[in-house]
Amino acid sequence: MTPMSKFLGYRCSLCGTEYGPEDVTYTCPKDGGNLDVVLDYGVLRSKFQPADILSRTDFSLWRYLPLLPVPEYPGNATPLHSVGWTPVYSLRRLGESLGLNQLWLKDESGNPTASFKDRASAVLLARAHEINAEVVVTASTGNAGAALAGMAAAVGQKAVVLAPKTAPPAKVAQLLIFGATVILVDGTYDDAFDLTVTAADEFGWYCRNTGYNPFTAEGKKTAALEIWEWWQTAHEQWHARLGEGVDHAPLTIFVPVGDGNIISGIHKGFKDLAELGWLARLPRLIGVQARGSAAIANAFQANSEEIKAVSARTVADSISVDLPRDGVRAVRAARETGGTYVTVSDEEILQGVATLGQSGIFAEPAGATAYAGVVRAMTEGIVGADEPVLVLNTGSGLKDVKAAMRAVGEAPIIEPTLKALKHALREKA
Ligand SMILES: Cc1ncc(COP(=O)(O)O)c(C=O)c1O
Ligand SMILES: [Zn+2]
Repeated sequence: MTPMSKFLGYRCSLCGTEYGPEDVTYTCPKDGGNLDVVLDYGVLRSKFQPADILSRTDFSLWRYLPLLPVPEYPGNATPLHSVGWTPVYSLRRLGESLGLNQLWLKDESGNPTASFKDRASAVLLARAHEINAEVVVTASTGNAGAALAGMAAAVGQKAVVLAPKTAPPAKVAQLLIFGATVILVDGTYDDAFDLTVTAADEFGWYCRNTGYNPFTAEGKKTAALEIWEWWQTAHEQWHARLGEGVDHAPLTIFVPVGDGNIISGIHKGFKDLAELGWLARLPRLIGVQARGSAAIANAFQANSEEIKAVSARTVADSISVDLPRDGVRAVRAARETGGTYVTVSDEEILQGVATLGQSGIFAEPAGATAYAGVVRAMTEGIVGADEPVLVLNTGSGLKDVKAAMRAVGEAPIIEPTLKALKHALREKA
């Protein structure tokens, strides 16, 4: 099958207009709506069974190439080729402490540039390669840029990244190390976003911006495909534990939300599987936003699809967004799966960083936001003890060491004597 034969084009998420693969590049020309990639589900259904995917020996997101609208990226031994296939851990003790019978965490921090964003950049670069894009540009709070810069360096693609000057130093270091052209903007992420769109137009660059380029959600949907595959065995064990006669709730997934593209992408992945007839019941998606950056949660709570800008302020820099660019689809991801939105304070987020650390997970604040959302959902009775819960850690704690230190405090410094050590240990106890 040629790659193009499964990729039919796009459908606007607002007005429903359909476009061919070459008719548009970013958003709907009529209303600026986000475009969903449309695959030829009929062709895919006739060519593939789930077993064809499950038996592939490629343990990365490229395992799902048959369901992606891109051709294979040439070569096979670069960081770009090893994105995805991230582990799921059972957090037994943490779950019990929350009153949950089963809590799992899918850890995205082991991706090549240490965040979930590698998924989007890997697939987007496959598209960039296909259309012979000379330069790929993105606005970023840090992770999307690092992911673009890292994956681009891996395959020799030119990349430009615009980030707010307030981005954590580790993220800026990544951008520079990977050799991208890095420009820091004296403004917000939203300012960088708008400038990137203008610059792409002016210089003929291919723009990767989150919630703007339709291919980012396609990369992000691979996390849903992995969860679907993992759940095939995990749910059997889960059912065995609960025993017969219990009404089995669907998997509930907690996703941290900034622009809303991760949760939209995950929703798209599950919708693709449902279209193929490979998934009977969609997992419930719960979006978690920082209270100081909650434009999507606000719309959801108001039962509206109108996303109103906020003046974002949160310790979780990756999800600090005034005007989310994928808000409508993000609202629908929760609504159409029986999920909801919760918001958490910066204190709850930092507490989440500290608590996850005690289970061996080092999350950046945005990743810990998802876990803080589980805690809040339990408090508010949104999730019951027998509901299986999966939380997504989207980024490594090494991305923002300053925030981590805020979460746990400083270590004492002592004279190198036993007496001083004993004193310090007493103080700690
Ligand atoms: C670590 C991390 N978590 C969550 C998000 C939120 O993703 P989205 O903006 O697609 O909602 C981001 C986005 O930058 C991120 O870097
Ligand atoms: Zn439209």
